[in-house]
Amino acid sequence: QQTDSRIIVNADQGEHTISRQIYGHFAEHLGRCVYGGFYVGEDNTDIPNTNGIRNDVIKALKELKVPNLRWPGGCFADTYHWKDGIGPKADRPTIVNVWWGGVTEDNSFGTHDFLNMCEMLDAEPYLAANVGSGEVQELIDWVQYVNHGGVSPMSDLRKENGREEPWGVKYWGVGNEAWGCGGNMTPEYYADVYKKYATFMSTWRNEEGIFRIASGASSGDYKWTEVLMQKLPPSLVEGLALHHYSVIDWNNKGPATGFSEEQYFTTMQRALHMEELVTRHSTIMDKYDPDQRIALVVDEWGGWYNVEPGTNPGFLYQQNTMRDAMIAGTTLNIFHNHADRVRMANLAQTINVLQAVLLTDEEKMILTPTYHVMKMYNVHQDAQLLPLTLQNVDYELNGQKLPAISASASKDADGNVHVSLVNIDAKNARTVSLTVRGTEKGSVSGTILQSANLSDHNTFDNPDKIAPKTFRGFQKNGDQLTVTLPPFSVVVLAVE
Ligand code: AHR
Repeated sequence: QQTDSRIIVNADQGEHTISRQIYGHFAEHLGRCVYGGFYVGEDNTDIPNTNGIRNDVIKALKELKVPNLRWPGGCFADTYHWKDGIGPKADRPTIVNVWWGGVTEDNSFGTHDFLNMCEMLDAEPYLAANVGSGEVQELIDWVQYVNHGGVSPMSDLRKENGREEPWGVKYWGVGNEAWGCGGNMTPEYYADVYKKYATFMSTWRNEEGIFRIASGASSGDYKWTEVLMQKLPPSLVEGLALHHYSVIDWNNKGPATGFSEEQYFTTMQRALHMEELVTRHSTIMDKYDPDQRIALVVDEWGGWYNVEPGTNPGFLYQQNTMRDAMIAGTTLNIFHNHADRVRMANLAQTINVLQAVLLTDEEKMILTPTYHVMKMYNVHQDAQLLPLTLQNVDYELNGQKLPAISASASKDADGNVHVSLVNIDAKNARTVSLTVRGTEKGSVSGTILQSANLSDHNTFDNPDKIAPKTFRGFQKNGDQLTVTLPPFSVVVLAVE
């Protein structure tokens, strides 16, 4: 049978592991992500919670297998003073969230709340430290407070505040977007600032030490990566960040629902640009770090649209449609295929902000199409990346072209192979001839996420409009499969 596209997966040639940490999320003090999203307060009797954290959110995120969570920002991080968020809640000073809506927060969600919540989620915390308006001593104290098991001023204070054992936080961001909201620095200046902070971040954790992540480039700012790789001594850095959002135009981002096919096409151009970004940033890193010791950490990514009409423009609340499922499916495939260098990523942001996996409205909570894609894909976490060849077909609009099919494959600890496939074409179903060679496994099953319209989304009145279903659109002939992918669909196949 003539097919549009051809994929050959080599199940006996894997070299790299897909770090589960690329399935990380991001929780900033922004709009209703932390307050109202994760945290509703210990005294809330309307929304079931444990120590103020929503039970429905914990359940949904545990099922998603969230491996790590970045907090408290974002731009907010460089204004945040962690000591204002510990001790008796009634005594805590307020903070004005200058970046996001100018709202006054009461600091009731602080270090203990976040780190205890990560324990409930079974997720590794990733703390983003204040470099922009903070002090080196403030960060040293924070590391000591959360990580030091012995006697010290900060560990004693932690114990006074009710936590005997240290949490042992591994991941630390040294500032955020230092080129912008983190201080408008040049890369040369930031490199010096970074070195000062990183030098004093003692390894109060365990023999493995802490993992310091330098504030990285915005999208295609390759000079930023070049200067940092040149100037940062390998002994002081474990990860280098990269931020990239799929934005049509920063001055008019377009609506989150009810968008045109042209707008969809542009969003996908921006999303697929991630392939070039991680390739080129990795190439620069390879020059200075040929052993790939330093991880590329894409700690902010996702779709960014105009806020929902009638909502606070500073709160970045947007709906989540099949377009977002396309962004998630293709971007995760890109990260998988660059597993050698991309070893952590954080989708922006978990709840009620940008490309969220969960939306809440008082006591109600819904799962977005992005949630479903991340859950379908979590079979790839810590699996061995399998190399594949892909003969693609174009998705064309107004004379412009994008590759229609995105794919990645992995083999889990039991030898089962998973192949994730996305067809971004807005109008055409695409057939794929898929050969999985180099495995004895042969029983095939699949799951699909699809809907009738690109703009379709889940709502509080219709929460399950978009949900994964069993996929039957394939025929098997020996080790060859003919797979039919409907327009704008995501499929995960298991070969077991
Ligand atoms: O995720 C929203 C904002 O986008 C973050 O605060 C900032 O780091 C980025 O510019």
